[in-house]
Amino acid sequence: MRTVVITGGNKGLGLAQTSRFLEAGWTVHVVSRTEGDLGTLAPGPGRLEWQRCDLGDGSDTDYLDQVCSREGGISALVNNAGAHLKKPVWEVSPAEFQRVLDINIKSMFAACGHFVRLQGRDSDNGEAENCGAIVNISSMGGLMALPSAAAYVTAKTGVIGLTRSVAVDGASRGIRCNAVCPGFIDTDMTRAILEKDPARRERIERRIPSRRFGLPDDVANAVHFLASDESRYVNGAILPVDGGYAVGF
Ligand SMILES: NC(=O)c1ccc[n+]([C@@H]2O[C@H](COP(=O)([O-])OP(=O)(O)OC[C@H]3O[C@@H](n4cnc5c(N)ncnc54)[C@H](OP(=O)(O)O)[C@@H]3O)[C@@H](O)[C@H]2O)c1
Repeated sequence: MRTVVITGGNKGLGLAQTSRFLEAGWTVHVVSRTEGDLGTLAPGPGRLEWQRCDLGDGSDTDYLDQVCSREGGISALVNNAGAHLKKPVWEVSPAEFQRVLDINIKSMFAACGHFVRLQGRDSDNGEAENCGAIVNISSMGGLMALPSAAAYVTAKTGVIGLTRSVAVDGASRGIRCNAVCPGFIDTDMTRAILEKDPARRERIERRIPSRRFGLPDDVANAVHFLASDESRYVNGAILPVDGGYAVGF
């Protein structure tokens, strides 16, 4: 059975990813500070495990060792945990900037390196293949600046550079690494913000070429594809899931 570790797989976009992998029969290990909404998931053909872990200091990778020793290996890692900071650049303190970097990119950097160390296999002839896949969750904010999100945009842009670097370094050890950049997705958080400002929601919808917000399942399907063998020759891809927002209107 294939095993995936999903950081922040307990709510929001991560919960939809957990559900998608369970439906496809994977063993899913969710890593987060709380159990969040995991209790709402219908049992699928897969198996669900949860591990409490605070990734906020950006260096903990013990959770990967624990899953590896319990399951005998990890097929895929989804680095989804993240946090936003809605402030213009001049209002962000050094401590706030550091916190955003720690959860959105430092923890991801540590996880990518450790995953390649654990799962990768050196190949004498350069043909190591299929030792594992990493999917990093960036954002439309990794592809373009968003208003009042300087720290977040800095981190999510870094995720793209990290993904490309891991794709190149990891390939010699049989590990692929790709990123997904969600655009405007209908989550509880975006609904709560935009319910107070329906005119803004309409403006955004008009600006999206597909004329609708994305669904958490739209992101989960892309993540599942990049984690599975169906994408075995896809490495270093930066995949927007944004209804065309990043390419124009
Ligand atoms: N929603 C969107 O429209 C959108 C758009 C573009 C990109 N994204 C990206 O997609 C990912 C998920 O976003 P979301 O909207 O689903 O966010 P969310 O609902 O706020 O969920 C964030 C997740 O990260 C976990 N997390 C946060 N801090 C953590 C920490 N210190 N240690 C361990 N886990 C931590 C949370 O779990 P606990 O609180 O239980 O720890 C939660 O599962 C993020 O990387 C976000 O930047 C989202």
